[in-house]
Amino acid sequence: MARVPLQYVCQACGSAQRKWMGQCPDCGEWNTLQQEAAASATPFQQKHSLKSGGRTIALSPLNAAVELPPRIPTGFGELDRALGGGLVAGSAVLIGGDPGIGKSTLLLQAAGRMAVAGHGVAYVSGEEAADQVRLRARRLGLADAPVMLAAATSVRDILTTLSAQPPRTLLVIDSIQTMHSDQLEGAPGTVSQVRAAALELIGWAKETGTAVILVGHVTKDGQIAGPRVLEHMVDAVLYFEGEGRHQYRVLRAVKNRFGGTDEIGVFAMEADGLAEVPNPSSMFLTQRDEPVAGAVVFPALEGTRPLLVEMQALTVRLPSGATPRRAVVGWDSARLAMLLAVLESRAGLGFGNSEVYLNAAGGIRVVDPAADLAVAAALISALTDRPVPPETVVFGEIALSGEVRPATHPSLRLREAEKLGFRGALVPPGTSGVGRLQAQTVANIGALVDRIVGNA
Ligand code: TYD
Ligand code: MG
Repeated sequence: MARVPLQYVCQACGSAQRKWMGQCPDCGEWNTLQQEAAASATPFQQKHSLKSGGRTIALSPLNAAVELPPRIPTGFGELDRALGGGLVAGSAVLIGGDPGIGKSTLLLQAAGRMAVAGHGVAYVSGEEAADQVRLRARRLGLADAPVMLAAATSVRDILTTLSAQPPRTLLVIDSIQTMHSDQLEGAPGTVSQVRAAALELIGWAKETGTAVILVGHVTKDGQIAGPRVLEHMVDAVLYFEGEGRHQYRVLRAVKNRFGGTDEIGVFAMEADGLAEVPNPSSMFLTQRDEPVAGAVVFPALEGTRPLLVEMQALTVRLPSGATPRRAVVGWDSARLAMLLAVLESRAGLGFGNSEVYLNAAGGIRVVDPAADLAVAAALISALTDRPVPPETVVFGEIALSGEVRPATHPSLRLREAEKLGFRGALVPPGTSGVGRLQAQTVANIGALVDRIVGNA
């Protein structure tokens, strides 16, 4: 038997090197290179060039009629929303998230609901024993749902078994990192194993029309392990996010071949599993009577969905010489550093001797760029100890020049805020109020400081 050549594959980005290195030359990660067997040329590849030996494929005009794939409801409106309207037959979906966030719970509940609705559903766990899954199903009130369950990790065994049975609507694989393909050497969880196992499962999905949902664990730096490769292979990628201590979970679409991204589904983790939150717009607000310095309400837009989030900032002055901490929960720390620099150089507000803490309330992660102005307002308010006016929302993007830039869909944001009782807004130039909500425009960061400090 010919010796299989060895190579070193980066477990973060999937690039292959001839020899071991401490740092991946492609993505710069440290200690991610692992020895794996290299793919070798098949006899077919050796005999043919790329221009011969293939089959003819059909080329058809771009403007030919298209049929939108029918959607299969999962029993969770919020999951359907994140999927762009439901599952598509034969598609592959990757659901990523931190361990313990609720991926298995969500998928077991969806599997149960689909099975109760009459769909053939198989749930294969590579992480838990079948009885463990059964106990969980019982706790979730799904003990009688006709889901077919197996604890297995060999992709060949799983596909052999399922192929011998009547076709199913859904196959859940929990998780792809525990799956093992014997097409390739190497331990489960390595990039090439994850890729090979996923390829076989996805190919089988396309062949049989079964929708496959793959669970993927996220590594500590926020990547699904082996994953940039996986993200390219599947039709949709959803991330299940949330702060473990908080009740709320957000299912965020980051890629979707069949629908829009940015769409989110919102859930709450309850004693009997995940419950949908169909009207989440006020979930991330804090109820209080007196305005507090450092707390600012941001009318976010996640996909097509307005969501009001309280952004909280706290600054603590340190004796000079000490190195101040910056800690961020629910927002981008690089963006915070940028805003602090803009506040310092464009408005003369010094945070250099202060510790800065920033938190998005309720455990949500805010990615909408229009949060800049709200975060800046929270920082200014915390530093100067002046609350922003009560019943006021704030949004807008901030440029490095300190100018405030327009945000997408301002009236959608303001309508939701008005509906929830807000009566004022600090907004980018060119944005006007809605109904009983009066908007005040803020052209730049200096004007924002004046508004907040002038409103003592
Ligand atoms: P799980 O679905 O196992 O997470 P993942 O598959 O993403 O690793 O979620 C486990 C967590 O959810 C666990 O910490 C307990 C909590 N939980 C509830 O609060 N209520 C429930 O009904 C269930 C099943 C789990
Ligand atoms: Mg799990």
